[in-house]
Amino acid sequence: MRYGFISDIHGNIEALEEAFALLTKARVDKIFSAGDIVGYGPNPSECVNLIRINKVKSVIGNHDYAVNDKYEENLFNTYAKEAIQWTRNNLSTDDLAFLKGLPFSLSHDGFVVFHGLLNSTSPFTYVLSDYEAWRCFKNMEAQLGFFGHTHIAGCFIMQTSGKIVHLSGAAHLQIEIEEGKKYLVNVGSVGQPRDGNPESALAIFDSDKMKIEIVRFSYDIEKTYAKILKAGLPSFLGERLFVGA
Ligand SMILES: [Fe+2]
Repeated sequence: MRYGFISDIHGNIEALEEAFALLTKARVDKIFSAGDIVGYGPNPSECVNLIRINKVKSVIGNHDYAVNDKYEENLFNTYAKEAIQWTRNNLSTDDLAFLKGLPFSLSHDGFVVFHGLLNSTSPFTYVLSDYEAWRCFKNMEAQLGFFGHTHIAGCFIMQTSGKIVHLSGAAHLQIEIEEGKKYLVNVGSVGQPRDGNPESALAIFDSDKMKIEIVRFSYDIEKTYAKILKAGLPSFLGERLFVGA
């Protein structure tokens, strides 16, 4: 089976459409989302709709959570808070109910999908360092985990010795799965990459060949930027897309 993994779409429909086109071309059998379908971007409802049409299995991200929970919103920075309030007003009752019903994690065919920190009392903690990766590995029974939240693509590998190695996914990355090792793949962000590469990211896992790929691809940033300005969202949320910040 070939699986596609997308995350942190953040209401960016131009990037999401490119992601689906790429995954169709790559002959992927099933697609999973590691959360944050909405927030920041100008097309939250359209993105929810496309996720549902394509039968993507999704977990909940902190922005998906915050549209239904004002306490979570209070933890956000100024730009994120302004955007989440705009997003809430631009989602239907049905969209909000769909997002509310998403699980924190999903297990399938020997892997687990989640947004931030797996099986933690604080599931929206960023996994940026080897220490946070170690906390995830400790909670992970499966050999493979796919997640997002940081918008930084890459892979943490726990060697048989217990040592953790990190590979960057800022450019195309290919990983061969080896027995005895565990892998935590940050699939990066479709709609708002923050690893210095403005190209969107996604991951493909081939369970027959036991190979994982992180793929980077371009989309029409100018179009998304113009929509962000037109919607009255903070201009910074559009500007950052050009530099992947
Ligand atoms: Fe996010």
